[in-house]
Amino acid sequence: MNRKENNLRETAVTADARRAAAVETALARLDLPAKVALLAGADMWSLPADEEIGLGRLVMSDGPAGVRGEQWTPDDPSVALPSPTALAATWDLDLVRRAGRLLAQEARRKGAHVVLAPTVNLHRSPLGGRHFECYSEDPLLTGEIGAALVSGVQDGGVGTTPKHFVANDSETDRYTVDVRVDERTLRELYLAPFEAIVKKAHPWGLMAAYNAVNGPTMSEHTELNTTVLREEWGFDGILVSDWTGARDTVRAALGGLDIAMPGPATVYGEHLVRAVHEGLVPETVVDDMARRVLRLAARVGLLAGAPAAVPAADLPAPIDGEALVRELAARSFVLLRNEGGVLPLDPAPASLALLGAAAAEPRIGGGGSAQVFPTALVTPLDGLRTALGDRTRLVHAVGADPRTFLPPAAFPCRAELRGAEDSLGATALADGGVRWLGALPGGVPFEDLGEVRLTGTLTAGAAGRHQLAVRGVGRFRLEADGQVLFDGLLHAEGEDPAAAFLNPPERRVELDLAEGRQVAVTLTYTMPEAGDFAGFGLVSFTLGHAEPAPSAEELIEQAVAAARDAEVAVVVVGTTEEVESEGVDRAGLRLPGRQDELVARVAAANPRTVVVVNAGAPVLMPWREDVAAVLLGWFPGQQAGEALADVLLGTVEPAGRLPTTWPAEEADSPVREVTPTDGRLDYSEGLFTGYRAWQRRAGAAPAYWFGVGQGYTAWSYESLEARLLDGTADALAEVTVRLRNTGERPGREVVQVYLATDGSDRSRPDRQLAGFAVVEAAPGAVATARITVPRRAVESWDTAARAWRVNPGVHTVEAGRSAGDRPLAIALVVPQD
Ligand code: BGC
Repeated sequence: MNRKENNLRETAVTADARRAAAVETALARLDLPAKVALLAGADMWSLPADEEIGLGRLVMSDGPAGVRGEQWTPDDPSVALPSPTALAATWDLDLVRRAGRLLAQEARRKGAHVVLAPTVNLHRSPLGGRHFECYSEDPLLTGEIGAALVSGVQDGGVGTTPKHFVANDSETDRYTVDVRVDERTLRELYLAPFEAIVKKAHPWGLMAAYNAVNGPTMSEHTELNTTVLREEWGFDGILVSDWTGARDTVRAALGGLDIAMPGPATVYGEHLVRAVHEGLVPETVVDDMARRVLRLAARVGLLAGAPAAVPAADLPAPIDGEALVRELAARSFVLLRNEGGVLPLDPAPASLALLGAAAAEPRIGGGGSAQVFPTALVTPLDGLRTALGDRTRLVHAVGADPRTFLPPAAFPCRAELRGAEDSLGATALADGGVRWLGALPGGVPFEDLGEVRLTGTLTAGAAGRHQLAVRGVGRFRLEADGQVLFDGLLHAEGEDPAAAFLNPPERRVELDLAEGRQVAVTLTYTMPEAGDFAGFGLVSFTLGHAEPAPSAEELIEQAVAAARDAEVAVVVVGTTEEVESEGVDRAGLRLPGRQDELVARVAAANPRTVVVVNAGAPVLMPWREDVAAVLLGWFPGQQAGEALADVLLGTVEPAGRLPTTWPAEEADSPVREVTPTDGRLDYSEGLFTGYRAWQRRAGAAPAYWFGVGQGYTAWSYESLEARLLDGTADALAEVTVRLRNTGERPGREVVQVYLATDGSDRSRPDRQLAGFAVVEAAPGAVATARITVPRRAVESWDTAARAWRVNPGVHTVEAGRSAGDRPLAIALVVPQD
């Protein structure tokens, strides 16, 4: 260690000591009610201030793909990053760390101190509804990407809460499901990313999952929250409940849960004070909980007398958010097929047919709490139009519109907030969507609100049958053109308290209008009785509208005609908000609507058909061998169109690699069961999810293996060396891979190292990812990847001994481009511990 590093280290130690002292001083000044007050939300997103001890109000905010802040309105937009699956697809830890720094910058701009991210549950099944929000099927990749994101956010002096601890890998009955998973699988798969993140990146928080694991619900799971997380791994941050996830005062306090969110009504507060007085919870437990909250406050600079973990002078330089989002997206795109080098389109074609509803209205992120209103939106149509300019005749046709719910009415509306009798205020809305979470416009208290009256004027753009829709949960009355078109109750499915905004039902009505006709539309929403949505200060509903549209068949015919007339056809297909969202699992992997038919018919009309997939998780692509190119564009964030143009035209190489195996058929997926039986979801497949399961299937292969992705050049893997490292540290071996760019363009490659067993112990997966590195090289040049393989790669969890155990003997180090393509191999003999 040189002198400068030594000084830095000393400064950090001193700062830690000063922070710890300030925390103890503050704690000593608090009586029991004051300590307890720190442990529960004051409102939807914040913990209360305490002026007496110089403690500021601490704000938490979602989330993994952009920082929303305390408001959820288009008036307060956020930089919308690509979906977490896209971040993982970069396999690029420096880039992900920069994404974390951007989240911190956004959090600071929005007055938030903790970002409720990253989501590091695993891709156990492609049917998991929140798949887009997690990183990978592989625990090592998830842990590395998660640690890089946490480090990036915390570099910016903002806290994180990797979530949801643990085994929240699907959404069906997420509040109540009891995940049954054997201890070895829990350790080797589902806990592993959390462990890696805690040990590498030291997050200042963690979020407990809603579900139970082998009996106890996670907000009360003493063994995992205290014994494993705190005592074994050394976690010193706060454990916060998922929203409304704390259910029992005594069990949560004794089970290791520090903070119950949201507030003000929680199981802590006066209930916890009483439990201490009754001797059910020792006051020392409350002291520990409060100490951890104060430590967090100190780290983010909210406790007087305590130095923030990142002094203002050390904050990272400002980041250009839009430029970084564009770079992240382009780097995440995975080129799955490129017949005859149809891509890049260089030189630009004279004519291009851009097809698909998502070409003009892309999905930039998945649904649910990870959603933010973007600061800007560049659609594929905008992006290509700008990049191609006058060189190319660009035609767009919808082709197929997979959305099953009407979009919010595209005319301005006025929302009037009304009390029992009178008006409490009003606000202007850009369209027919109302979404107020945590706070109401004008600061109107939730308890005063009786109804919301939404009014607007619909001007018929075309003559014919217009559709209007009400979407939400509760009592609605829709009037248009002087008639009452709907008056009734819409019910949520299931018990999820967030269902009203995650997965609300829709009711449609029709109205025949002449072109240009103007009609007044009023939608009145009556607030439910108090208690119906306990814990969630939420008003969310939509007035939908659709103009008369061509039939589905006419839409496809228009697209096919456009494709036939163009040099190149680019079809953007994807999932919808209903398909990929928090709160629900997927019913299937097929692309919704008639998109498969659209692709097949366009491909038959134009041999240069490029399909861009706008989805956060696997979809089936029955046409994948019949088109010239397939580019997986994920949910690319707000600069979607710029990134797409960069990659299609070859300014940037698509450098993404699949973080999860994509099946060819749904029935092939190793794990399809995401629905609990009698309240239990059995992870009976054990360690064999994703590629671990696929490699056990003789003769069968997925559509695309974990790790797959092409660039615009070619590589030859030339040599591999592996050297055991001495000692008992976490690093086992250093692997060196040399590879040559044998193509004609500069390239970027993700070198992957797998460790294979000798096959004698069938309880262990045949091979697992053990490390990776991103390299770049000019045409003809050699790149060298140096990859450290962690000791954990040769260890198994020994359930009887409750300890990690090295598997000694011969292992094979393999290097290559995916779990299915590993051209180099070398033996590594691992000694007994
Ligand atoms: C989600 C969390 C999120 C929280 C706050 C919950 O429903 O599961 O991931 O952070 O809401 O929005």
